[in-house]
Amino acid sequence: MTTARPSGPFRVGDRVQLTGPKGRLHTITLREEGELHTHHGVLRHSSLIGQPDGSVVAGSGGHEYLALRPLLRDFVMSMPRGAAIVYPKDAAQILAEADVFPGARVVEAGVGSGALSMWLLRAIGEAGSLVSFERREEFADVARANVETFLGRSPGNWRIELGDLAEALPAAVDPGSIDRVVLDMLAPWECIDVVADALTPGGVVVCYVATATQLSRVAEYIRGTGLFTEPDANETMVRGWHVEGLAVRPDHRMVAHTGFLVWARRLAPGAVAPEQKRRASKSSYSDDDVELWTPGAVGDREITDKNLRKRVREAQRAAAGARMASAREDDDDTPTA
Ligand SMILES: C[S@@+](CC[C@H](N)C(=O)[O-])C[C@H]1O[C@@H](n2cnc3c(N)ncnc32)[C@H](O)[C@@H]1O
Repeated sequence: MTTARPSGPFRVGDRVQLTGPKGRLHTITLREEGELHTHHGVLRHSSLIGQPDGSVVAGSGGHEYLALRPLLRDFVMSMPRGAAIVYPKDAAQILAEADVFPGARVVEAGVGSGALSMWLLRAIGEAGSLVSFERREEFADVARANVETFLGRSPGNWRIELGDLAEALPAAVDPGSIDRVVLDMLAPWECIDVVADALTPGGVVVCYVATATQLSRVAEYIRGTGLFTEPDANETMVRGWHVEGLAVRPDHRMVAHTGFLVWARRLAPGAVAPEQKRRASKSSYSDDDVELWTPGAVGDREITDKNLRKRVREAQRAAAGARMASAREDDDDTPTA
């Protein structure tokens, strides 16, 4: 698997993030004859090609631009989205809590826009494998195109399976063959039984959920199976700081909530975890409570079909550019006789 080079001088086909006057951001894909037109003038792509990453170049109006290759976190925050993405702060925690390691055999669902897929692919490396399940074909198209745009091609150790995880997983992987499972979906509790079958003893399942009611339901479901260790849960709040001279203080604004993580490990077949001391009255729930956990009550915001088709086109255009650039790079690397 060749991946987009994250370093070295800029070449045709590279995506470059330009920070212009007053901090305005533009992302361009370098072309021999390409030009960026703004009300500050024209910046020719040729002035960047061959320059080192982190260069400063001037446009026709004399305005200077700082040029950097986008990091993965920059890319996922600006790529076309079909569904809400896992933010970088949560992706980092998922990799840590799920203990995703080089060579791991990982399953994720749903693939959504492919943000988490890219972090997982990085963490497992070329020796690992990732199977991403998605029940909506258009989302899978957006994810595939986003991954291709970032990596320059679709990696050979990644595949997307279309369908509902609960139905598709048993046919797609052997029982006990998966090291890690990450669920980012509205109703992860519907998939826990098949996940338990797919996981190897000691394997980890991590669920990323947006609301406390989902968190509660999936944790209770995991606990109720008796097939996992006691579930753990947390959320990650990242507060930026303003650090300038003597003005050193937290930022005034922050992203206060994205989601919660809940995770547990698969017990060996037939193993029964030692009893935990719990007060039944505090942990039991009724049918009325279950109503609060339904998809309608937790408020799933759906993208319109028209908007989704637009995102698919955007993502596929970017992927086609990246494929051409990657093919050109392969040609350049081919030794000549
Ligand atoms: C929030 S998005 C996932 C975002 C993705 N993790 C990312 O970082 O870009 C949730 C996705 O799960 C899919 N989904 C929901 N339930 C599913 C299921 N049971 N099986 C497969 N996909 C499912 C939805 O169609 C949607 O695309």
